[in-house]
Amino acid sequence: MVALTYLRTGALLVLSCLAQAGHAQAPGHYDAVHSGTPWFDQRGAPVSAHGAGITKDGDTYYLFGEAHEDMTNAFAGFNCYSSKDLVNWHFESIALPVQQSGPLGPNTVGERSKVMRSPSTGEYVMFMHADAIDYRGQFVGYATAKDITGPYTFHGPLLIDGKPIKKWDMGTFQDKDRTGYILLHGGDIYRLADDYRSIREHVNEAMADGFESPAMFRKDDTYYFLGSHLTGWERNDNYYYTARSLRGPWTRQGVIAPEGTLTWNSQVTFVLPIEGSHDTTFMFMGDRWSYPRQASAATYIWQPLKVEGDSLSMPEYQDSWRIDAATGTVTPGPVQSETITAFDPRVHNMGAWQQAAKRRQGPTSTIDKNASLSVTFTGTQASLYSLARPDGGYARIIVRNNQGDELLSSTVDMYSKYPVPTVKFVTPLLPRGAYTMHVSVVGDSWYWVNKRGERSGSEGHAISFDRLRVRK
Ligand code: GLA
Repeated sequence: MVALTYLRTGALLVLSCLAQAGHAQAPGHYDAVHSGTPWFDQRGAPVSAHGAGITKDGDTYYLFGEAHEDMTNAFAGFNCYSSKDLVNWHFESIALPVQQSGPLGPNTVGERSKVMRSPSTGEYVMFMHADAIDYRGQFVGYATAKDITGPYTFHGPLLIDGKPIKKWDMGTFQDKDRTGYILLHGGDIYRLADDYRSIREHVNEAMADGFESPAMFRKDDTYYFLGSHLTGWERNDNYYYTARSLRGPWTRQGVIAPEGTLTWNSQVTFVLPIEGSHDTTFMFMGDRWSYPRQASAATYIWQPLKVEGDSLSMPEYQDSWRIDAATGTVTPGPVQSETITAFDPRVHNMGAWQQAAKRRQGPTSTIDKNASLSVTFTGTQASLYSLARPDGGYARIIVRNNQGDELLSSTVDMYSKYPVPTVKFVTPLLPRGAYTMHVSVVGDSWYWVNKRGERSGSEGHAISFDRLRVRK
């Protein structure tokens, strides 16, 4: 058995035995969008593309986002992945690698890469937030390439009247007439020159404090401008504005997801219109950050948005859902017919675990650094549900076949600012058979100290098991 190892990021995935077992799908194949769980590319490596945007070229979607390392916040390049189904992502390249020196060189910050194709030159232009490692040297930068997958050449700051834009969080928007815009935290909007290599006009002045991670889409004659409050890597209730013109007036509308869910524990980065033959689905793309393990444990929250008039929402969290990229139609995710609770005889606990409920239901949890749990299941796919909680930490997941071979392993983050039972890990599609999932305590958790010295993140390292849902 050949092991596909990804030691650099701390994740390890061994899927070749799935292929050897005669399974028709490529190793690591999924058939639905799963939010809040690790994704793996064709190499078995975690998909590392946060603060991302998607550019459609022909019938292919290209995902550009921040490559990350575990244990450091320094710029690690911008990755490019491709997909035709928006579910299975093929690693293409490090589209823009760490530069030899200077901005986007070693020990700097590079975030929120977005790519648009200039209508006048046909060139692909990547925009990003470039910064010093202490977030005190920010500007909007750009890079260009002839091919969408790169290599991109970094040109430094994007200029307006010869001067850089010294702002941090940025986004992009391409209007129906292919005019390109740069969006900045606070709500500034800048119109790009036709070659997308400089700014022509400051179209809208900032209208809010914070309003980070700006993202925009248009439906008919309404522009929707989404952003977050300013809480660093911690989540908050993201909100939005609408207008009939990019020059405003912008009307503040409200939160995107139900208040208190903290945007289903995510921060918006982009909205992708999936324009099919029957329908256009607007897909919310958010990040569930997990510093320092951004490479292995930060996840993607991608949800279909409900857009009606001036209102947009994500009223229910969809653990999994399907999108037909050709028709643009959304359907529910796969049926998982069996539930294995924490009290099922197939669950074996090692170390000190605590049951939350006495009536033989509810999650079991532990803060014992040596604790682990294993659960056997028979089927083609399993989803692990946990109680994410304010003192939650990292868990190590290992899936084995019934010969005891390790098929894959991963790290998941069981923190949430409010307690919530939620899906944490979904196996790829497996040949029908018997498997064991092993869940153990890593012993640490995510935290972040911002430049004002404020700490956010988990206060503990607890993990929990609520249930396993199995697809037959
Ligand atoms: C916010 C921004 C991110 C990043 C972090 C760093 O979440 O949106 O892009 O800069 O803060 O704290």
